[in-house]
Amino acid sequence: MRNIAIFASGSGSNAENIIRYFKNHPLVKVDSVWSNKKDAFALKRAEDLGVESHYFTKEEFSGSDWLIRELQRRDIELIVLAGFLVLVPPEFVDAFTILNIHPALLPNYGGKGMYGSRVHESVVNNKEKESGITIHLVNNEYDKGEPLLQVRCPVFPEDTPDTLASRIHELEYQYFPGAIEEFLNRK
Ligand code: GRF
Repeated sequence: MRNIAIFASGSGSNAENIIRYFKNHPLVKVDSVWSNKKDAFALKRAEDLGVESHYFTKEEFSGSDWLIRELQRRDIELIVLAGFLVLVPPEFVDAFTILNIHPALLPNYGGKGMYGSRVHESVVNNKEKESGITIHLVNNEYDKGEPLLQVRCPVFPEDTPDTLASRIHELEYQYFPGAIEEFLNRK
């Protein structure tokens, strides 16, 4: 089996969607879901679907190699960031292949502080005609790794950040699991 670990800080609807997609997959397994937030709903979603879920402290994430060793012990081949809001330390970038999804068309509306509803608020305030998703490799800078896939969607004049967020979430559900699978196939 090729083992994936998902990192998520919030609701975890993408994490859930990815778990469901790979549930009976012959080659790929979601081994575990990890969060920097003890009360992240992502952890509950994983548990409910029978996937191990764990919280880690700031020190465990960036102050020691405990988590890297633990993920290596689990034979994790790919880390998937799905709404994970912390910059990944360079030691992780060196040790693992990591994918992220960003809810806009990078390089626009990316970088430090550009996450969640802030992205959609900026897109709507700037009266953009389109937005979308970017699935990309993770390097040592926020949202700067090599893009693997971008999918576009319209932004309508009557859109609010919330209506745009739901359209973007639908794109994420539709494309993220398949992009992970395809990436592993090519790896
Ligand atoms: C998604 O829009 C993702 O692109 C962004 O954070 C959001 C997470 O949503 N990085 P959820 O927690 O998966 O519902």
